[in-house]
Amino acid sequence: MRATPSPAPTVPAASPLGAAPAVVAASVADEARADQVASALAASRLTLAAWRAGDGGPVVVWVDADGVALRGPAASGADPVRPPPPPSAGRGGRDPLLRAIGAAADVIDATAGWGVDAGVLAAAGRPVRMLERHPVLALVLADALVRWRAAGHPAATRLELLAVDARHVLASLRADAVLLDPMYPERGKRARKGEDLSLARRLVGDDDDQGELLAVARVAARRRVVVKRPRTAPYLAGRVPTGSIVGRTTRYDLYPPSEEPT
Ligand SMILES: C[S@@+](CC[C@H](N)C(=O)[O-])C[C@H]1O[C@@H](n2cnc3c(N)ncnc32)[C@H](O)[C@@H]1O
Repeated sequence: MRATPSPAPTVPAASPLGAAPAVVAASVADEARADQVASALAASRLTLAAWRAGDGGPVVVWVDADGVALRGPAASGADPVRPPPPPSAGRGGRDPLLRAIGAAADVIDATAGWGVDAGVLAAAGRPVRMLERHPVLALVLADALVRWRAAGHPAATRLELLAVDARHVLASLRADAVLLDPMYPERGKRARKGEDLSLARRLVGDDDDQGELLAVARVAARRRVVVKRPRTAPYLAGRVPTGSIVGRTTRYDLYPPSEEPT
């Protein structure tokens, strides 16, 4: 049975996360959808010609026949970036993310981003509720989710998306495991010294409220909270986990449930 597609999330006109980037339609056939997207995000529209001429800044919302994406300036020559579909088969049980999630029957991914980790978990059979607070990323992911379902990706039926700040809703949600993968600040510091920034990071910036997020995630988790970090990064908010699963480049720190946010 195919699940009903989530509607595109509605977004407050004045987002606390800053003005949305301009919306560009790749062709005349995409204009109507681009208008809808601009209206949902309270964003301005930019013509294709103006984007090609260098207007639109470092990132625009791009609408084409494949859906909604992010795209850098025309001069960069880079393609649009959009969430990759979930894998068609589950990874082996030795995958560090799956080992970290363990026997959890369901998962809340409280920092959904592009939905990559959620897709891996869904492909491994776990229902995943994805929470994403950035209105643009939430809309891009919602659009992708509708398309994955329409294309019959089996894992997509196990994915659900809420366009919310996890800190505001986790106290009233429950799942066996809660996954957290907030933007890692040090990458941002390196980037500010001149490295290329990913389009999502340009939009989202650093997630500076990670300690608060971890505290409320522990209330929502029945079995554990899993925090994804670069392999050698310090612990999130300095909180020492009860264990870690260490992969080649990534470390998953494990925290027990808690009755109160601490
Ligand atoms: C590094 S990305 C996550 C990437 C994701 N794990 C994936 O596989 O694509 C971090 C994301 O978490 C989101 N985020 C951070 N704090 C959040 C919160 N309190 N509630 C909801 N989303 C949050 C950010 O907007 C950003 O999109």
